[in-house]
Amino acid sequence: MKSTTLPLFKQTPRLIIRPLELHDYENWSQAFSSMRPPQSAWDETNWVLSELTKAKFKEKIKKELHLRVTDSAYEFAVFRKDDGILIGHISIDLIRRGFHQSGHLGYRIFNNFWGEGYATEACAAVLKFAFKELKLHRLEAFIEPDNKPSLKVAKKIKLRKEGLSLRRVFYRKKWIDLIAFAATCEDFGIKYKFPQKKK
Ligand SMILES: CC(C)(COP(=O)(O)OP(=O)(O)OC[C@H]1O[C@@H](n2cnc3c(N)ncnc32)[C@H](O)[C@@H]1OP(=O)(O)O)[C@@H](O)C(=O)NCCC(=O)NCCS
Repeated sequence: MKSTTLPLFKQTPRLIIRPLELHDYENWSQAFSSMRPPQSAWDETNWVLSELTKAKFKEKIKKELHLRVTDSAYEFAVFRKDDGILIGHISIDLIRRGFHQSGHLGYRIFNNFWGEGYATEACAAVLKFAFKELKLHRLEAFIEPDNKPSLKVAKKIKLRKEGLSLRRVFYRKKWIDLIAFAATCEDFGIKYKFPQKKK
């Protein structure tokens, strides 16, 4: 699976979804510095100004490229088509090949753009990419039971609820339960075919 040959540029009716590039620096620092204060327990705090330097951004791009080249994770930035503003990010990480062929879906829309259906639109496109281009068999997401917006997104992109995963992560100073959601490519009418082995 060569990341250089993968079609990483995605378009949906309202969004452009692609990895961050160096020329996105202004857009990226503006997005972080202009979002509202945290609006829920799952809303990351604003970055401190010292984290928004060009040097840190370059490091981030380099790290994301390395993750893609090693087929470990794919980080996507989500831009609004009509004004080009960066409104969030989506990732497929924890990729396991071999007999797993699975990955984990993570998503965040910046809080000044919530409730417009952007997460649903972007996640649906990335999910398709995971099955069709990355050739994953299974995609999982783990959500806190009271994160209602995220539960709604999972349902709308047709992830199946698999059950409560007890004491799954250490978060906010305690081990917390998460609801496991998943889809396999068969759920989207795709028959799984193992990627060709390199000769
Ligand atoms: C979860 C998140 C990505 C959703 O982004 P979004 O662009 O607002 O999502 P959408 O607009 O596509 O859908 C959100 C749905 O949740 C619903 N919703 C929002 N707040 C809600 C609440 N408090 N209770 C119930 N439903 C709620 C919206 O009405 C919408 O459903 P609808 O389209 O049926 O009306 C965003 O809230 C976010 O980034 N949160 C912080 C990070 C996070 O929690 N990430 C997921 C970790 S598992």
